Amino acid sequence: MQTGKGDYAFVRKFRDSDLDVVVELANSSLSEYYGVDLIYDLSRQWPDGFLVYQFGNRVVGFLAGAKYSSNEARILLLAVDSSFRKIGIGTTLVEDFTKLCMQLGMMSVRLEVRIDNIEAINFYRKLKFVVISTMRNYYSDSSDAHVMWRLLSQ
Ligand code: ACO
Repeated sequence: MQTGKGDYAFVRKFRDSDLDVVVELANSSLSEYYGVDLIYDLSRQWPDGFLVYQFGNRVVGFLAGAKYSSNEARILLLAVDSSFRKIGIGTTLVEDFTKLCMQLGMMSVRLEVRIDNIEAINFYRKLKFVVISTMRNYYSDSSDAHVMWRLLSQ
């Protein structure tokens, strides 16, 4: 399986034609429910910060970013198709997003992750994010979230 970026596998900006597959990826990978309207609205908030990973003619991962403040970005949603995990796609999406943020002069990126999502926490730790706080009752089922943060100059 080819995993590197190139003509066959690459990161690009979200297109409206990706909407259904992104909604499916979000709802099969994440515990909250994400409707079509919500994903569509996110794609409009910051179009340059909504990335997908295309593998052949399939979208197999996406990252929805937002501007948290003038110098801080936020990863709202990140998911990779379960058949395509652990081959570097999530890392590529996060690194491309952080490069974009640095080009825009942003200093840091933050995100929230369920405190029991150990795989994702380890994934983000490997990408130099650190836990800076915990938010109680953050999710609809009252689960807590860790806030993770990364300084972009690192
Ligand atoms: N178990 C342990 N470590 C893991 C796992 C795992 N299942 N998956 C990734 N990692 C770690 C490893 O250290 C890995 O490095 P290695 O390959 O050298 O061992 C490193 O993360 C990089 O892995 P990638 O292959 O780049 O990550 P992947 O493409 O699998 O995507 C992701 C990671 C996005 C967390 C994926 O597992 C996923 O979609 N999970 C379900 C959805 C989810 O939890 N999303 C994040 C929610 S938080 C938010 O959206 C802000």
